[in-house]
Amino acid sequence: MKTSLKSLLALALIAVFATSVLAADGGNPRKGKHLYKKSCKTCHSAGGEGGELTPMTKTMSQWDRFFKKIEKKHDAAAIENLSEQDLLDINQFLFDFAADSDQPATCG
Ligand code: HEC
Repeated sequence: MKTSLKSLLALALIAVFATSVLAADGGNPRKGKHLYKKSCKTCHSAGGEGGELTPMTKTMSQWDRFFKKIEKKHDAAAIENLSEQDLLDINQFLFDFAADSDQPATCG
């Protein structure tokens, strides 16, 4: 009984680890949420010039693809004050709550 509990725990840990490997590497979703509110929502809320955008607007892989090419896909002036780490954090936040994630969220 003891061993099976241990291996179950190990499996759970592996599952958590495997999920985090899929995500943008090294991003902090909590910081990302804060940065997203501060630096993206200004234009990306209902009626904003960029149109409403929430984590659920895209899937996990769509978010990763967008951030990989953000310099080409987005008006540079809007994101020039954000460091690479900032963008990674925002990427992580949007990824974690994407449409096909475990916990899709519309909240920004
Ligand atoms: C200064 C205003 C502004 C800011 C700040 C801004 N955006 Fe945008 N964004 C826009 C505009 C304008 C568009 C183009 C909308 C269109 O094509 O209709 C756009 C487009 C986008 C798109 C493409 C929409 C789609 O359907 O694929 C994404 C994704 C996006 N922005 C994400 C972000 C993220 C993430 C941030 C924060 C790091 C951000 N934006 C900050 C104005 C802004």
